[in-house]
Amino acid sequence: MEKNLEQISSLCKRRGIIFPSSEIYGGINGFWDYGPLGSELKRNIRDAWWHFMVQWRNDVVGLDATIIMHPRIWEASGHAAGFADPMVDCKDCKKRFRADQLCEEQGKKLIQTGKTFQLPEGTVCTACGSKNLTEPRSFNLMFKTYVGPVEDDSAVAYLRPETAQAIFAQFTNIFSTARKQVPFGVAQSGKSFRNEINPRNYTFRSREFEQMELEFFIRPDEAVELICGKVATLADNPDLNGEPQENWGWEVWHRYWVEQRLAWYKLAGLPQEDLHLYWQTKDELAHYARACVDIEYAFPFGVQELEGIAARSDFDLSQHQKFSGKSMQVQDDRLRLVCAEMSQEAKDAFKAKVVADWTSRGKDAAAAEQFVEDLFLGRYVPHVIEPSAGTDRLALALICNAYDEEKLVDGKGKEDIRTVLHFAPALAPIKVAVLPLVKNKPELREKAWKLFTDLRRDWKCAWDETGAIGRRYRRQDEVGTPFCVTVDFDTLENDTVTVRLRDSMEQIRLPIAELPAYIRKAITL
Ligand code: GLY
Repeated sequence: MEKNLEQISSLCKRRGIIFPSSEIYGGINGFWDYGPLGSELKRNIRDAWWHFMVQWRNDVVGLDATIIMHPRIWEASGHAAGFADPMVDCKDCKKRFRADQLCEEQGKKLIQTGKTFQLPEGTVCTACGSKNLTEPRSFNLMFKTYVGPVEDDSAVAYLRPETAQAIFAQFTNIFSTARKQVPFGVAQSGKSFRNEINPRNYTFRSREFEQMELEFFIRPDEAVELICGKVATLADNPDLNGEPQENWGWEVWHRYWVEQRLAWYKLAGLPQEDLHLYWQTKDELAHYARACVDIEYAFPFGVQELEGIAARSDFDLSQHQKFSGKSMQVQDDRLRLVCAEMSQEAKDAFKAKVVADWTSRGKDAAAAEQFVEDLFLGRYVPHVIEPSAGTDRLALALICNAYDEEKLVDGKGKEDIRTVLHFAPALAPIKVAVLPLVKNKPELREKAWKLFTDLRRDWKCAWDETGAIGRRYRRQDEVGTPFCVTVDFDTLENDTVTVRLRDSMEQIRLPIAELPAYIRKAITL
């Protein structure tokens, strides 16, 4: 079925999944609210991500940091100077565009020379057709505010444009308290803010959004080489689905996280054929990245990014070391002990090799020497692999993927359309709806209510006693509830209930005592 974003957004509005922010005042562009069911969906996404990335592993810990942080963080990270999109204004109709998007819409490509941009010949305003456009100029996407009552330069702060920097800024506190050794990761989910020039595609490009980010810290390849003798690369065909190995270099770790994240998206219910990997070219890489893969999903408005998995080298920690004056080095005892056993000759040969390698890449020989001396003492600034996912983008992808309109034909040949959200049960906003068959029989209603109050201790459940049972099933189908449990007259006799399944519409009869185990099995990720 061809998916239509208008129908999907209309269902989301009608059923309390997503609303325009501040709608009673006409809305505010680029901001969206999640209603009673949308907030459940997002919480389920966050929880599922946390389970997979933190709880089910022994090498990742969590962080919940503030949105507003010291402004020097954004100087160190490069966002203050470089986190900008090129924008263009139409001098006639005054509309403002992101220059690359304006070009793309006309089948052209924005011309970039270093940090300057130029519109290709013949670009016009897509709103009024005028050729009277300004030159592209940089627009920093960070939202600015003032901390405290005085609105001067010393009070300027920013709403974070990514959650990642807090992890780097808190790295030494986490390392000294979490009792983990490199390789290990720190995960955080939370709000981020970008003052997008042109928010669009429903919730996809919003100005306030949520991220789920992992910074996974690894040894520099040179440290791996000292410990293992040789750094494993992809050419060595490592088993990416098995346990991580000590000899993995950054390239293998990067690929490992791509595979992990793809596996998670499949668990979340996105079909493999709708997921694409896009390897960013050198020009497209963010200022901090050594390599980046986008995991993309085929949305109704095109194939777009869900998550970027970047190899950020030691860029961020080194920058914070430089700007804060605080050491970001770790002490790696395994490395120190290996180096303590090395002969001076082997050390000299290793140092010469690293210096030659660094200088061939335009790096400073003295810095290379210091780096190797520190390695011999078991010290280095860790490198990092960053899987960075958009929570709202995933919510939208899951809704688009789940949406279906099925044509049903009853026994008499009468056609009907069933709207249904086929969410993975673990992520569905409501897990179980409990439906008393009739509401005017007190024992039956009481029995159903007791079941409802028992089940809701474990899962988000719905209670619905109004309307014909078929209509109640349809209401739940529309919001993706995987199980409807009907309490009827037989329940009073034999303690069994009807379980009606969302996807197949099949009905099975189960003893109440077996119901929790049945549901638990079906909704486990
Ligand atoms: N931390 C990467 C990003 O926000 O895109």
